[in-house]
Amino acid sequence: MFERPRRLRRTPALRALTREVHLSPAHFIYPIFVHELPDESPIASMPGISRHSIDGAVAQAREALRLGVPSVILFGIPDHKDAHGSGAYAEDGIIQRATRAIKVAVPQMTVMADTCLCEYTDHGHCGPLCEVPGQSGAEAWTVDNDRSLDLLALTAVSQARAGADVVAPSAMMDGQVRAIRAALDAAGFTDIPIMSYAVKYASAYYGPFRDAAGSTPSVGNRATYQMDPAGGHREALREARLDAEQGADTLMVKPALAYLDVVRVLRDHFDLPLVVYNVSGEYSLVKAAAQLGFMDERRTVLENLTAMRRAGADAIITYHALDAARWLREDV
Ligand code: PBG
Ligand code: ZN
Repeated sequence: MFERPRRLRRTPALRALTREVHLSPAHFIYPIFVHELPDESPIASMPGISRHSIDGAVAQAREALRLGVPSVILFGIPDHKDAHGSGAYAEDGIIQRATRAIKVAVPQMTVMADTCLCEYTDHGHCGPLCEVPGQSGAEAWTVDNDRSLDLLALTAVSQARAGADVVAPSAMMDGQVRAIRAALDAAGFTDIPIMSYAVKYASAYYGPFRDAAGSTPSVGNRATYQMDPAGGHREALREARLDAEQGADTLMVKPALAYLDVVRVLRDHFDLPLVVYNVSGEYSLVKAAAQLGFMDERRTVLENLTAMRRAGADAIITYHALDAARWLREDV
């Protein structure tokens, strides 16, 4: 028999009937940067994305919901940074105030809070620094893992108190999910899920985000806590297992596109929902190529997001969320 797969590609209706992978705005989580200034400030390296005031963030959340995007994840950009990132766990911190404002104005919106210290520390690392005895030069200091756990736990509880529906620890400290779970439970937040950034690589693709958040480390880099891009599937499975054992409610792979093999491996080995983070650099590559006329933005974005779903992602954190939601509506 001569097989003719083209028979099922003959019309749009036949292609839709036999499609295996589906993409919907219901899968999207839209990141919003919130700063303490009254005006919107565009991010040069992320065309179409700005830092917003609290009122601006509320408007963004309202627009997301109108387009069928059910959740946002908030990143705070504080006026004041210090060695211990105290703005991250201040009751009136920027992310806490923005969370309260969105939950009051748009109660149906699921508000997720990125739980990390790097936007709040003056050195830009994801936790406070400490000396390493016996070492010199670049090895003489590191991020203090266990002190960071206490501060991340404080941050998560203050976010939950402000009304966050989900906390999302992204610091890559060992034991952070256990520490946050224990603190949330002790404070009465047993029903607040932890969306763990379980498998997070030390990636060049975070460049535009760090411009946006002013969180590029002033000394050193994040290679002592984020994963080596050359690490393989065993390391990814180990990180995911540790977070699952500590009580993570969902797993995540970040970045997305260069790591879709890892997404598939986690999908096949765990029964937790799986999130991918389509990060800033992945966004900016497409936007830049589209602005230069090298690529068709709409087709490229929808193809990339579909590939993340095909690899096994349930939900996708993406700066393209609002545009993609508009395009998907037009397609119906
Ligand atoms: C904070 C955090 C980062 C991102 C999400 N949470 C930056 C980093 O780890 O340097 C990156 C997101 C992006 O690039 O879009 N820990
Ligand atoms: Zn961080």
